[in-house]
Amino acid sequence: MLSKKHHIIHSIFFIVFVVKGIIGFSQQKHLYDAIYSGVPWFDDKGKAVSAHGGCIVKENNKYYFFGEAHCDTSNAFAGFNCYSSTDLCNWKFENIALRIQDSGRLSAQTVGERVKVMKCPLTGEFVMFMHTDNLSYKGQCVAYAISKNIEGPYTFKGPLLFQNKPIKRWDMGTFKDVDGTGYILIHGGEIYKLSDDYKTIVEQVNKNFTSGFEAPTLFRKDSIYYFIGSDLTGWERNDNYYFTSTSLKGPWIRRSLVAPKGTLTWNSQSTFVLPVEGTKETTYMFMGDRWSFPKQASAATYVWQPLTISENNIAIPNFYEAWNVDKSTGTVNSSIIKGKKLSAKDKRIVYSGNWQQDTLSIKSSDEKGASFSFHTKATQIAVYALARSDGGYASITIINSLGKTIASSVVDFYSKYPATTLKFISPILLKDDYTIKVAVLGEHWHWQEKSGKLSGSKGNMISLDKIIVRE
Ligand code: GLA
Repeated sequence: MLSKKHHIIHSIFFIVFVVKGIIGFSQQKHLYDAIYSGVPWFDDKGKAVSAHGGCIVKENNKYYFFGEAHCDTSNAFAGFNCYSSTDLCNWKFENIALRIQDSGRLSAQTVGERVKVMKCPLTGEFVMFMHTDNLSYKGQCVAYAISKNIEGPYTFKGPLLFQNKPIKRWDMGTFKDVDGTGYILIHGGEIYKLSDDYKTIVEQVNKNFTSGFEAPTLFRKDSIYYFIGSDLTGWERNDNYYFTSTSLKGPWIRRSLVAPKGTLTWNSQSTFVLPVEGTKETTYMFMGDRWSFPKQASAATYVWQPLTISENNIAIPNFYEAWNVDKSTGTVNSSIIKGKKLSAKDKRIVYSGNWQQDTLSIKSSDEKGASFSFHTKATQIAVYALARSDGGYASITIINSLGKTIASSVVDFYSKYPATTLKFISPILLKDDYTIKVAVLGEHWHWQEKSGKLSGSKGNMISLDKIIVRE
């Protein structure tokens, strides 16, 4: 009798623990309570959100986030992903909106970048625009695809034509004006007006007005157009800047930098500005990419920050580590991550391998395989570190009490200037005993720019500043 009771209790425990192990965080609806910039985001399937050079379209009260899918080994087109969200914090993977084509542009071993989607007011169709190219970036052309459903699958149609000729340019963006007219933006400041069905170009509205000015991003507030772009530094970050005008035809007045000088746009490159219109105000959300070649799938992140706008000036004066925008009122709330703090020197953090104190950091290592780990009862874990010009890649893994890895990612500890910031935040976790392990990969991002110049990190260094645990 006693042994039967024992057996039942044992079975219940077994079920509870196994189910808990299987669930991990990927079954939870609510993984994040804020927008965190510069850290990997996990989607509803527990995979890193891969949607760079993208845009957001609001449809039926949902936000659809489109962007470049990437792999960690090459620059080849891997499709354009589509995610959806109701709060801009939690992302559900919807679809590979545009897949690798069997042949031609956007087939395997080509380049497809800067995907943008707009709903055509005339046809009700969703039209997707992108930069297509060859792997050496010498066969550039703007192309388009269409779909009846926002999430796709989109049908690739080929080059977008102006006077029957393709637009042979690389970085591009889109802008939909208040009257529904669609425009294509090109590096250097060119603007082209789309036909009413968005499938061809009818007019060149603005000529090239500057050199460089990649990642063209345009939005309108009241009667002013703001045109943001970046310097030409490949995947390396730079101080993005902007022009304003009362007409898309110009004249365009050069204004200032988008973020404080030297922050390199808080380490990002522009891709889109999303107006979040509410009953009280409209928040204009700057969307930037923090690239990390070759590990663009796992280590490139997103920098999304609210723009402040006054008297024709835009700015991101402060970097919000955690913030929200209220979808109904349009107002912004920023916060900081609170919890139990453990400094890098805390005895509970176990270091293995060669970790040293250097001029920049209390604990740092570039020894491949060196690691640190610690155990905690937590519902969320945040890792802060010094990102530096010799920063490299680390793998971060969170393991639950059953030994199951419930979140893991590669994180890039590079910044051209030293910056102590949030490098990783786990999704909100079920209460459990977790082990977090950070290991030095002995690699770093690097890239040869179009000019032939080599850019990237100078080393493989990983540093730790502190860990914050929410219980
Ligand atoms: C710039 C562009 C990106 C990409 C890279 C490649 O950063 O904005 O879209 O083309 O160059 O070097």
